[in-house]
Amino acid sequence: KTSDFQHMIDAHSLAANFYSHLLLNTVEGEKALYYLEQRGFSRDLIEKYGIGWSLDDREVLTQLLQRKKFEMKEMERAGLCVMKNDGTGYFDRFRGRIMFPLHDDNGNVVAFSGRVLSDSKEEAKYLNSPETPIFEKSRLLYNFHHARLNVRKTGKVILFEGFMDTIAAEKAGIMNSVAVMGTSLSDTHLTKLKRIANQLIICCDGDNAGWEAAKRFALLAAQKGLDAQIALLPGKMDPDEYISINGGEAFTEKVLGNPYSYMSFIMAYYKRSKNLSHENDVLQYIHEVIEELATKVSPVERDLMIRQLSTETGVSSNALNEQIIKKVGQQA
Ligand code: UTP
Ligand code: MN
Ligand code: MN
Ligand code: MN
Ligand code: MN
Repeated sequence: KTSDFQHMIDAHSLAANFYSHLLLNTVEGEKALYYLEQRGFSRDLIEKYGIGWSLDDREVLTQLLQRKKFEMKEMERAGLCVMKNDGTGYFDRFRGRIMFPLHDDNGNVVAFSGRVLSDSKEEAKYLNSPETPIFEKSRLLYNFHHARLNVRKTGKVILFEGFMDTIAAEKAGIMNSVAVMGTSLSDTHLTKLKRIANQLIICCDGDNAGWEAAKRFALLAAQKGLDAQIALLPGKMDPDEYISINGGEAFTEKVLGNPYSYMSFIMAYYKRSKNLSHENDVLQYIHEVIEELATKVSPVERDLMIRQLSTETGVSSNALNEQIIKKVGQQA
C-alpha cells in the first residue's frame, strides 16, 4: 500500500530530524560532534548530509514514534525499531551511533547507517538498516540525489566504496561522486549510472579489499558497456584519508587526474603481489595478464599491453603474441 510507504518515509524523516537535533543541540551529542569535527566535518557539511546522533538509550526514538502515533509493527518493518525478545514491546535499532541518513533518488530518507564512535573489534563499525519496503541496498547509491545534476553536466561520475569518501570528496569540491553501501555493485546501480553518465571513475580503498572491489567493479562496468577507468591510491589509504593528508587538490590532480584503463589496472593488480626479478613471479605474471588479454580487450589495446608487458618482463613481443594466439585457440 502506498500509504504504508509514506508512513515509513515520514517516520524516517522524523527520526533524521530527531538524530540531527541530538547531535547539534544537546550535551549528549557533544562527543559525537567533537568526533566529526576531528574528522574535518564543517557545520555546513553536517547539515547538508543530515548527520545526527542516536542516544545511548534503548527507547527514545521508539517513544517518540509512539507519541506521534506511528504503528509499532510498521516501524519494525521499516527497520527503526526492534521487538523485545519477550514480545512485550519495542526498542531502538540504533543506539550510541553517528547517524548517516541514506536518501532515495527523490531525497527522502529511507534508511540509516550508524557509525560507532570508537573503532573496536567487538562491534561492527557501521550498522545499517535492514532491507525494507523502502530500502533496497542494490538500488541505493549514496549521494545520488545530490550528485545527479552534476553528473549529467560533466558526463562523469566517481564511484567510491564508502560514503565517508563521498563526503570527503565534497570537501575537495568534487560534486559528482556516489558510493555503494558496502562492497557490492549491482546491475541496477550500473543501469542508474549509465543513464546519466558516459564515463565512470572507480576509486576504491587502497587496501586489499579495495583492490579486489575495484577489479570486480571494473569488470561489471565493462560488461555493462560503461567507459570505466580506475583511480588508484598510494599505500593502503582510502580516499578520505588521502584527502585529509594530501588535500583536495592533490586528490583531484594526482589520483582522479591519472586514472588507469581497465587493462593497465589489471596489470598493476597482478604486479602488486610480485617481485619481477624472480623468474617464477615473471612467469606467473605473464600467465595472468595473457589470460585477460586473450579475452577482454580489443586488438589495439592488446598490442599496447603486449609492448608494456615485454618491457616489464624482458620477454619478446613475438613470444607473448604466440602465447596469446595459443590461448585464444584453446578457448575457441
Ligand atoms: P570502510 O571500512 O572502508 O569504511 O567500509 P570507511 O568509509 O573508510 O569509514 P571510516 O572512514 O572508517 O569511518 C566501506 C563501506 O562499507 C560498509 C559501509 O557502507 C562503508 O561505507 N561497511 C563497512 C559496513 O556496512 N559495515 C561495516 O562494519 C564496515
Ligand atoms: Mn501504515
Ligand atoms: Mn574499505
Ligand atoms: Mn574506507
Ligand atoms: Mn575511511
